[in-house]
Amino acid sequence: MEIKSDNDTKDTKNLHSATPARANLPTEERQKVTILTLQKQKKMKQKTVLVTAYDYPQALLADKAGVDVIIVGDSIGMTTYGYKTTLPVSMEEMIPQCKAVWRATKHAFVIGDMPFMSYQESNQQAIHNAGRFIKDGACDAVKVEGAVIDRIKAIVDAGIVVMSHLGLTPQTRTKLGGYRVQGKTKEQAEIILNQALKLQEAGCSFLLLEAMPRESAGFIAGQLHIPVYGIGAGDQVDGQLVIMHDLIGMFFEFKSKFVKRYCEAGKIIQDALIEYTHEVRTGRFPTSEHFYEINDEELEKLLGDHRWKYTIIEEKEKKIKAVS
Ligand code: KIV
Repeated sequence: MEIKSDNDTKDTKNLHSATPARANLPTEERQKVTILTLQKQKKMKQKTVLVTAYDYPQALLADKAGVDVIIVGDSIGMTTYGYKTTLPVSMEEMIPQCKAVWRATKHAFVIGDMPFMSYQESNQQAIHNAGRFIKDGACDAVKVEGAVIDRIKAIVDAGIVVMSHLGLTPQTRTKLGGYRVQGKTKEQAEIILNQALKLQEAGCSFLLLEAMPRESAGFIAGQLHIPVYGIGAGDQVDGQLVIMHDLIGMFFEFKSKFVKRYCEAGKIIQDALIEYTHEVRTGRFPTSEHFYEINDEELEKLLGDHRWKYTIIEEKEKKIKAVS
C-alpha cells in the first residue's frame, strides 16, 4: 500500500488549512504532541483534532494525516469486536491494540480508554489498570468515564495523565436511560459543570464532553482552564473527536446525528471484495503478472513428470519449446 506524505497529497492544504502549522508540515518535521502542545493549542485558540484508532494501519493513517490525539476507545467493542455495547470490552482486548497504535504513531498523543469495570472497584484497581495502559500499552494518558473524582485523583497521584469523559457516558448508558443527549437544560449543564470542576481540581488534564447541545458544552468549556474536547458537543469547545469508523464509513449499525462521514470506505471495500470474488470464480485472477517465476530447467523437469496433471501455463510452454 502506498501512503502519500503530506506533500504528495494535492488537497492537503485545503484539508488542513484550519489547523495550525503542524499539520501542514511534512511528517518528518512534526514534533511529538505532548500535554504542553495541547495546552498551548487551547491558549492559542487552535482547534485540536482527535480521532479514535484501534490498530496499526488506522493509527498510521491518522498520524500521517496530522491528527493531534488518537484515542484507543473502548468503542473498539462495537467497531471492531462486534459487541452491541462497549460493556464487554476487557483490559486484555485493549492493551494489545494500544501497543499496535503506539507502534504506528510518531507524532500523535495516544490515550487509552479504560474499559468498564477496570477502575470501578477500587483506587488500587484503577491505578493498576491505568498503569497497564502506560507500561504495557505504551499510551501517553488514559481516559476515564464519569465523575469518579476519587479514582481520577488516585490515578493522577500515581503520575498518570488523565482525560475525563462526561455527558453521554456509554459505559453507564443504562443509568442515563439509553444513548441520550445530555445537558439539555441549564440545570443539567450546571450539574455537569460542577462535576467537571471537581475533576479538574482532582488533576485531570483534559475533559471530553459527549452528546450535548453546543451552548451547554460551551458554557462548561468556558469555565475550565484545561482543554475541553467534544464529540457531538458542538463547536464551542477546544477540539473535535470523531470515531474513526463513523468518519470513514465502516460502522454499519447506526449513524449518530453529530457524525460526518468523510468517505464510504465500507462501500469501497465491499465493491473490491465483490470484484475479487467474481474474478476468482471466472478465472480472471490470478494472471501472469501475479505468478512467481520458475527457471527453465526446473520447468522442463516438471513438464516431463507425468504426475503433473495441472494445466500448463501457456507462456512457459512456449518458452520451453523455444529453448529446446
Ligand atoms: O470509546 C470511545 O471511543 C469513546 C470515545 C467517545 C472516545 O469513549
